Amino acid sequence: MSNWVRAHTNIALIKYWGKENENVIIPMNNSLSLTLDAFYTETNVTFNENLTTDELYLDNQIQDFDSLLKVKTVLDLVRKKAGIKTKARVDSFNYVPTAAGLASSASGLAALAGSASLAAGLNLSQKELSTLARRGSGSACRSIYGGFAEWQKGHSHETSFAVPVDEANWDIGMLFIIVNDKQKDVSSRDGMSRTVKTSPFYQGWLDSLGQDLSAMKEAIAKQDSHKVGEIAERNALKMHATTLGATPPFTYWSPESMRAMDAVRKLRKQGYSAHFTMDAGPNVKIICKQSELEEIKAHLLNDFTESQLISAKPGPGLQKIEKPDLLK
Ligand code: ADP
Ligand code: DP6
Ligand code: CO
Repeated sequence: MSNWVRAHTNIALIKYWGKENENVIIPMNNSLSLTLDAFYTETNVTFNENLTTDELYLDNQIQDFDSLLKVKTVLDLVRKKAGIKTKARVDSFNYVPTAAGLASSASGLAALAGSASLAAGLNLSQKELSTLARRGSGSACRSIYGGFAEWQKGHSHETSFAVPVDEANWDIGMLFIIVNDKQKDVSSRDGMSRTVKTSPFYQGWLDSLGQDLSAMKEAIAKQDSHKVGEIAERNALKMHATTLGATPPFTYWSPESMRAMDAVRKLRKQGYSAHFTMDAGPNVKIICKQSELEEIKAHLLNDFTESQLISAKPGPGLQKIEKPDLLK
C-alpha cells in the first residue's frame, strides 16, 4: 500500500525571516502566505524493518545526509508519536526547482509530514500536521492549507502552527519570473540565522511587521488584490534590506532580479495592478489579478522568454493521491 501525498508551495506575502528558537523552529513573527497551484511536491513514505537508516530519494536521486536532516526531524517526531522505531524510505518528486527560492522546502516538508503520518497509521488533525511540517521547514506549516494561511508564531512546539485565513476564491493570482532555477548559495535557514544574529536592521524589520500584517489581513478581507500586492511588495523589500546589513553581508538579488522588478514597475506605469515579492533566491513573483495574468504575461514576453514566465492561481491544501504525476 502506498501513501502518496501532494502538497503545493506557498509564497509569503508577509515574510517569515528569523527564528526565536532555532531548535524547534519558533519564528520571530507571524507570517502570511498564499498557496499556489503551479508548484508542488509528491511524496511517499514507506517504513521498512529491513532498513538500518532513513533514505531520501528526491527525483529518483538518493540524497546525502545533509539534505536528509530536515526529513529525519519529521520522521523522528512521527516515530515518537506512533511508538515505532522503524526506519523509512522516502520517495519524493519536486514539480518545483529545488532550493532556488521557489519554496521547495515548504511543499517538500508538508508533503512529507502528510505521508509519514499516514504511513505510521496516525490520523492527525490539520493543526497537528502543520505543527509537524513546521519542524522540517518553517514555511511548510502554511502549505497544509489552500489559499491564504497565517503562521501564528506561538511560544512552544505545540503552540506554533498555521491556520487558514481565506480560501482565495477571488480575483488574485501570481506570475513567476524565473531568472535562475539553480540552487542558491545561502540557504534560507543560514540566511535568516545570520541576519538575526548580525544585522543592525533586523530590529527595524521586526518593528514594522505588526502594521503590515494587520493591513494585509484587512486587504484580504476586502478582496483588494491591489492593496495585497502593495503591502507584500514593501514587506519583501524590508526583508531583503536586512541581509545587506548582515556580517558578512549578502543579497539574494541578481542583476536579472532587478530587471524583473523594473519590468513590474513598468507594468504599473501602464496601468496594471502588479506588485512583486521575492524570497530567499533571485526569482521574482508578481502579485496581480488572476483575470489579468495572461495579459500581463503577454507584456512580459517582450523582456523574458515563455519558459521563464509561469502563471499561478491559488492552490489547494494537502491531498492524498493515488499515484505521483511522474509515474502515471
Ligand atoms: P527553497 O527556497 O526551495 O525552500 P530552502 O533553502 O528553504 O529553499 O530549502 C531547500 C532544501 O529543502 C533542500 O536543500 C532540501 O534539503 C529540502 N527539500 C526540498 N524539497 C524537498 C523534498 N521534496 N523532500 C525533502 N526535502 C526537500
Ligand atoms: C524568505 O521555511 O525555507 O521564504 O524554516 O529554516 O526551513 P527554514 O526556512 P524556510 O524559510 C522561508 C523564508 C522565506 C519567507 C517565507 O516563506 O515566509
Ligand atoms: Co524554503
